[in-house]
Amino acid sequence: MDDEQIPADYSEMDIIAAKQFDKKVKENFMPAIISTVKQIVEDYGDLEGVGVDVGCGTAVFAIELCRHSKLKLYALEKEKAISEIARINIEKEQMTNRITPVLGDAHNLPFENEFADFIISRGSYHCWDDKVHVFKEIYRVLKKGGIAFVGGGFGRYITYEELKRVKSLRDRSLGEKGVKAYGSPDKLREILDHANITDYRIIFSETDLWAEMKK
Ligand SMILES: C[S@@+](CC[C@H](N)C(=O)[O-])C[C@H]1O[C@@H](n2cnc3c(N)ncnc32)[C@H](O)[C@@H]1O
Repeated sequence: MDDEQIPADYSEMDIIAAKQFDKKVKENFMPAIISTVKQIVEDYGDLEGVGVDVGCGTAVFAIELCRHSKLKLYALEKEKAISEIARINIEKEQMTNRITPVLGDAHNLPFENEFADFIISRGSYHCWDDKVHVFKEIYRVLKKGGIAFVGGGFGRYITYEELKRVKSLRDRSLGEKGVKAYGSPDKLREILDHANITDYRIIFSETDLWAEMKK
């Protein structure tokens, strides 16, 4: 593997590769994770109740979000090895009473209707085969009065220098499909419309592409 890339072939990962992915995320993406959580807390206030993180990876983002909210989070991940590292990270950070790792697929969320007050999904969107279906699933699981925040990016508090570094690293790691996904607000709007979601707002900037959905 190229040392200048973050592994992005998630379905190929065994436990050793998942550990390496986790290490690289922690070494490289913490400023973006901190910046995005800061933005979420500023925009949505004191988050509490039930949260779901769809495509949580090794739960580095979920852990940071829990530190800055009162959410009880379900950290959903499709790949077994990655979910196992998430479980280890949650235990290490003594967050087992706040975050529950869940092995599952975003296309078939293992939660009942109107389960979650807040749903976050960062950096997983580009992987989904049927994006319309996943958005329908997310909206199904969202409680009335809840907020879902789905997309990717680095958050508005990232410094210009950091942004340059991490954006270039992300783009190299995700390849053309990923870069295109996070640079196409019109495509995201089209997906939301096809999913029959009406109460949404697209946030597109130099740093980010997100769909904010309310119910
Ligand atoms: C770039 S990582 C992002 C991890 C984390 N959300 C973050 O912000 O650091 C994308 C993750 O989404 C997961 N993923 C991709 N497709 C998925 C699906 N259909 N259901 C659940 N997880 C999925 C991948 O396995 C990978 O761990």
